[in-house]
This record gives sequence, structure tokens and C-alpha cells, in this order.
Amino acid sequence: MLEDAVAASPQIGETEVAETVSALRLRVDGWRQAGHSVALVPTMGFLHRAHMTLIEVARRHCQRVVVSIFVNPKQFGEGEDFALYPRDEADDLAQLRAAGVELAFMPSVGEMYPPGFAATVSISGLTDGLCGASRPGHFDGVSTVVTKLFLQCRPDIAVFGEKDYQQLQTVRRMTRDLDIPVEIVAVPTVREPDGLAISSRNVYLDADQRRRATTIYRVLGDIGARLTEGASVADETARGLAMLREGTAGEVEYLELRDAASLEPIARLVDPARLLTAVQMGATRLIDNRPVDPPAGATPRS
Ligand code: PAJ
Repeated sequence: MLEDAVAASPQIGETEVAETVSALRLRVDGWRQAGHSVALVPTMGFLHRAHMTLIEVARRHCQRVVVSIFVNPKQFGEGEDFALYPRDEADDLAQLRAAGVELAFMPSVGEMYPPGFAATVSISGLTDGLCGASRPGHFDGVSTVVTKLFLQCRPDIAVFGEKDYQQLQTVRRMTRDLDIPVEIVAVPTVREPDGLAISSRNVYLDADQRRRATTIYRVLGDIGARLTEGASVADETARGLAMLREGTAGEVEYLELRDAASLEPIARLVDPARLLTAVQMGATRLIDNRPVDPPAGATPRS
């Protein structure tokens, strides 16, 4: 079926599909021997404009681009949407071909996690709060699969989106702590014209939820700007929480100001920070964040 889909798509570029680690290594080793640099863009597929932006950035950095497509069961909790996670391999491959991606790595669950698989990569601290609080084990699943992808592909760089900011910081810390020789490149959040962060899960919003979801971007912008003007962190996050509740009519899981690097909670804005939120709208969980600069003249801690 996959072959049919590939044959039917326009011949813009050649995207080879590797389904095994050995096929991936064979191709990447060949590139390395030819002196080519290699970028990896890890994804769970159902590719959209934001993924394609990450791929463009990868292309600007390296001569060869590998995109992995793997819906990773280890990062979904019980009752989360693993089985329902949207998949469209044929459309994904068509997009990768159009973008001139050299290699799609599409392993099976059995290839990634053979019987008896027992390893877990766990990054403590950074992953405790925010999304980690409501999704126990999620970041262990992400760290484990991303470590495997890095060791399987051994890219020069790997590209991640700021939309999943806690994931980005976790991957950065993991790469640093484990001395994995991969440069992490971050791409700012790609948005719809009305500000909603692009996500595979947006397709699940009904028309009313979709309209209300734009509140998230507006509130982050409004509260972030007031914090930079010097307003109190406690007052503004409380105000933002109320605005989010009213505007989205959803359940606001958190709205928090955290240190941009360590993700530690901050009571006073003196270093670059990040305002992060997660909102449950019906069955759909949306996350978003934005950078928040300290007020002019604030004295940094370090
Ligand atoms: P997935 O949700 O498919 O996202 C793949 C990459 O695209 C991630 O780096 C994510 O941050 C980025 N991305 C998604 N939406 C974005 C947006 N609107 N703007 C910028 N970047 C965006 O994240 C995962 O998959 C998985 O956890 C993965 C890292 C592949 C590990 O399984």
C-alpha cells in the first residue's frame, strides 16, 4: 500500500523509506563517508505546515535530511490517544517527496521496542511539573525514543519545535547530560493566521472550540506583555487563568511562568522566562507557550 502511495505521488524528489535501523544506518553511513552533513527531524507523522517548517530549517543546516515518523507508544499514557492518534502515511510521504527529503525512517513498534526491551531514559526535575504533572511517564517515553533515534541515525543536528517547549528543554538537557554529539536546533512555534499553534490535534476541535481556542494565543500575548512591563507575576498569572477559563470554556490545566532554560518556577521576572499553558477543550488537549522578557532594568540573577 505504501508502495502504491509512493508510486502515485508526483515525482518531485526521491524519498527513500527505511523501515529498519540497519537500512537507516546503511544510508546515513554512506552519506557520512561522502562527507555530507545529516539533519534529523523526529516526528509522529500526520505532517502539517509546522513539521514542514522544521524540515526547511533542517535543509538550511545540512546536506541530507532524515525525517522519522513513529507514533511512539511509550509517550502515551493509559487512556491517552495512542490508538486514535491521526495517521496518514501516503500523504506524509507525498509531502516529504515534495520537500526533497532524502530519507523517511518509518520503523514498526517491534523494530523500536523488540521483545524484552527494558531501557528507560529519564530526565528528572525539568519533567516534574507542567505537562509532566498530568502525563506521568510521558517525558520518559519521549527521552527514550529520542535517545534511540539519535543513536540509530547519529545526525549532526536534530530539529525540534518550541511549541513543545518542555519537550525541547528536556531533549536539550538529555543531550548535554549524556554527551550525545548532536546539536539541537529549535524552531519558533508555527501558527495559524489567527494565532492558534498548529497541531495534529487541532482537527478534533469543533467549530465553536476552534474559535474559542484562539483565546490561548491572545492571553499568552496579553499577560506576557504586562509581565514585561513589570506587573506582578502572581497577579498576572491569576488574571490570565481566569481569562483562559472564560475564553476557552475549557479546563485550564496550568498557566505558569517558568525560567526559560531550567523551567524552574519564578516569582520575580529578572531572567528570560517562558509563559506556558495547557488547556483541555472537550477531548482535545492544547498546549502553547511564549517567551517573556524581563522588564528593562531588571537585574539578572546570574
Ligand atoms: P510531533 O508532535 O509530530 O512533533 C514533531 C516536531 O514538530 C516536534 O519537535 C514539535 O515540537 C514540532 N511541532 C509541532 N507543532 C509545531 C508548531 N506549531 N510549531 C513548531 N513546531 C511544532 O513531538 C513529537 O512529535 C514527539 O514527541 C517526538 C519528538 C517525535 C518523539 O516521539
